[in-house]
Amino acid sequence: MAKKKAAAPSARPYRIAVIPGDGTGPEVVREGLKVLAAVAEKVGFAYETTEFDFSGARYLARGGDPTKPSIPVITEEEIAALKTFDAIFLGAVGDPKVAPGILEKGLLLRLRFELDQYINLRPVKLYPNVPCPLVGKGPKDIDFVVVRENTEGLYTGMGGVQYPGTPQEVSTQINCTTRFGAERAIRYAFDLCRRRASPKKMLTLVHKTNVLTYAGGTWVRAFEEIGKEYPDIKKDYNHVDACCMWFVKNPEYYDVIVTDNIFGDIITDLAAIIQGGLGVAAGGNLNPGGLSMFEPMGGSAPKYTGQNVINPIAAIAAVGMLLRETGNHRGDAKLVDAGNRVEQAIIATTPRMKSQAAGQMGYSTTQVGDLVAEAVRKG
Ligand code: IPM
Ligand code: MN
Repeated sequence: MAKKKAAAPSARPYRIAVIPGDGTGPEVVREGLKVLAAVAEKVGFAYETTEFDFSGARYLARGGDPTKPSIPVITEEEIAALKTFDAIFLGAVGDPKVAPGILEKGLLLRLRFELDQYINLRPVKLYPNVPCPLVGKGPKDIDFVVVRENTEGLYTGMGGVQYPGTPQEVSTQINCTTRFGAERAIRYAFDLCRRRASPKKMLTLVHKTNVLTYAGGTWVRAFEEIGKEYPDIKKDYNHVDACCMWFVKNPEYYDVIVTDNIFGDIITDLAAIIQGGLGVAAGGNLNPGGLSMFEPMGGSAPKYTGQNVINPIAAIAAVGMLLRETGNHRGDAKLVDAGNRVEQAIIATTPRMKSQAAGQMGYSTTQVGDLVAEAVRKG
């Protein structure tokens, strides 16, 4: 754990836990922290960062089995230590030397569950001059938010396998849906829709009620009942398959979407590509009353590791989100302002880049970080 202090003009410094993680995670986190330092100086708030080395490399170095989970990726004590922070900034999870699932479940999903980060917030915004694969669509057409339920559904691990590897093999994977879980996600989404500057004021529930009648019913009943408390918000419903089609055909239709965990996982990758790719998409794992974690969506990109070619914009956008959300949570307008400034600096920087794809940006990872930091200073 290495500590680094920034200049402290105000009261208690905000404490940010930093988990660079695997692959290109450390490279993009470095640029995020560069921009954080620039905006803290510009706006005048105090913070300190503490780095945690949770990663595939550490799991293996401690004797973890690369083929199946054999030791905890993070310990109870480490989770307790994380709980004392104001926010978490995560780089990337995923190491080709460790079988898929071990780090994802042992680190990312474990933290989501243990910290009860029940909202996965994914703003989908096309920045200027970022190429969009949809013909004729621009920044004014792609600006919506997906609120994904983040602790239930198919992600709880309920179910099992019987007689694996035999012709009699049977497996179940339970879509655990509770009224409580649906309700808190829906309520968060209605409140967000109300707060958002967009004039559409429409919340779309996305599910698959024509087939998943039990789980879908729980979502629809919660949506309709809670919706009565929000007469100012238009209520809308899409089946998830149709929603995928509309993302491509009419993305300008959407304002705020609320959906179940697995549907949210899938549609937010589609959303990421229409906003310019994984190099720009950021997400927040939120516990609105507690500790939240912010991350770029891009993953660990092993083939680009250590080459200084990966796009750090998504990680920088995650820092912007971290500041805005922590500011809202703590009632600190300065932090919210800092978060907005980071976003403005990204908007000033993307038009200077040749592409948002790794290795084709016209700049290195560190240079893009420098450009955004410079835009923050000038902003
Ligand atoms: C995401 C990721 C994770 C998920 C994986 C890495 C477990 O795809 O944050 O969307 O499925 O939630
Ligand atoms: Mn995903």
